[in-house]
Amino acid sequence: MLRLGSLTLKSNLFLSPLAGYTNLPFRLTLRELGGLDLATTDLVNARSLLERNPKAFKLIETRPADYPLAVQLFGSVPEEMRDAALYLESIGVASVDINMGCPVRKVCKVGGGSAMMTEMDKTADLVRGMVNAVKIPVTAKMRLGWDDQNLTAPDLARALEGAGAAAIFVHGRTREQGFSGTVNLAGIRAVVQAVRTIPVIGNGDVTTPEAARHMLAETGCAGVSIGRGAFYNPWIFQHTKHFLATGELLPEENFEERVVVMCRHLDLMVEVFGESLGCRMFRKVAPWYSKRFGPANEFNKKVVLLSSRAEFHELLARYREWRRQFLDESGSLKPGYRPPPMVASFMQEPAVAARQAIPVPRGPVEIW
Ligand SMILES: Cc1cc2nc3c(=O)[nH]c(=O)nc-3n(C[C@H](O)[C@H](O)[C@H](O)COP(=O)(O)O)c2cc1C
Repeated sequence: MLRLGSLTLKSNLFLSPLAGYTNLPFRLTLRELGGLDLATTDLVNARSLLERNPKAFKLIETRPADYPLAVQLFGSVPEEMRDAALYLESIGVASVDINMGCPVRKVCKVGGGSAMMTEMDKTADLVRGMVNAVKIPVTAKMRLGWDDQNLTAPDLARALEGAGAAAIFVHGRTREQGFSGTVNLAGIRAVVQAVRTIPVIGNGDVTTPEAARHMLAETGCAGVSIGRGAFYNPWIFQHTKHFLATGELLPEENFEERVVVMCRHLDLMVEVFGESLGCRMFRKVAPWYSKRFGPANEFNKKVVLLSSRAEFHELLARYREWRRQFLDESGSLKPGYRPPPMVASFMQEPAVAARQAIPVPRGPVEIW
């Protein structure tokens, strides 16, 4: 149990916003697997929301099963941020998060994202204006600072607590660092130590239950937020919650269980975005599932061209047939089978499930 202002949460594990991915279908898929309570949308431009821009509205689309939902806003005009928060409260959103970590030029240029970390008083005033206007919690998500010479997160977190922020989410890297190197746990700990009572939620590189426990132990943070690790393993919230409560690691899901969840995710994409767009959007989602399938070249080559649900099921049936030649249900090589070179080299790699580092998704969002 964790309190975020007036909100009591059933889990101290959170879904980190991933622009282009943390849409309603993905959130519902994760929630159905358990362990997650507060999930967030992609970042949404406050002004676009006030202008009733259809794209911004699609980003905040939700359902009762998607509660409690946080919407992440970006913007630097205090009145717009306040009014957007008021609007979100009026439609039943549980919490509003402010993006202070985004390094993307388009966002920083207008004084949003990471740029907010460099102007502490102005940022605290903006947060105070939002906090005074709404009853729901207002939280902030930041990086450790602009660069190693400017690790402003502890000071900023303290200032925002003074302004009434209900929690701080901190990704343990600087803006300059991008996604390189590893997460700086001491940096997160400094933020935990800087605030008086509000929870600090640590974030970055958590891909296993053990990594979550390590972050909690090393930093003293109240909870952990997981982004890329959730694509990589949608069960991560359930597994981590169980591990933190009992010390027991649940077994990895097998191929068929992964397929069931992948199909559910596609069905939800089609429900929410329609068949054509839903399938096109799924082209970049399916390869995340297949990273845990074992040899999946055959699947990946075709799925990136997906345009209908029927096509997906056909391709899945063909892929099942192909695997059946050499893999048993648990994904192990059948005894006595001499695999083709591509499969053999794959099987010699460290178990995919055991890899710690996860790639940053490709495309324009790479700059996050
Ligand atoms: C594709 C992508 C999109 C992202 N979009 C957002 C965003 O909209 N808002 C935000 O605050 N952070 C965003 N982030 C940063 C993540 O929320 C998170 O802080 C970062 O990925 C580190 O956590 P992880 O290692 O668990 O993924 C994004 C990251 C990626 C890779």
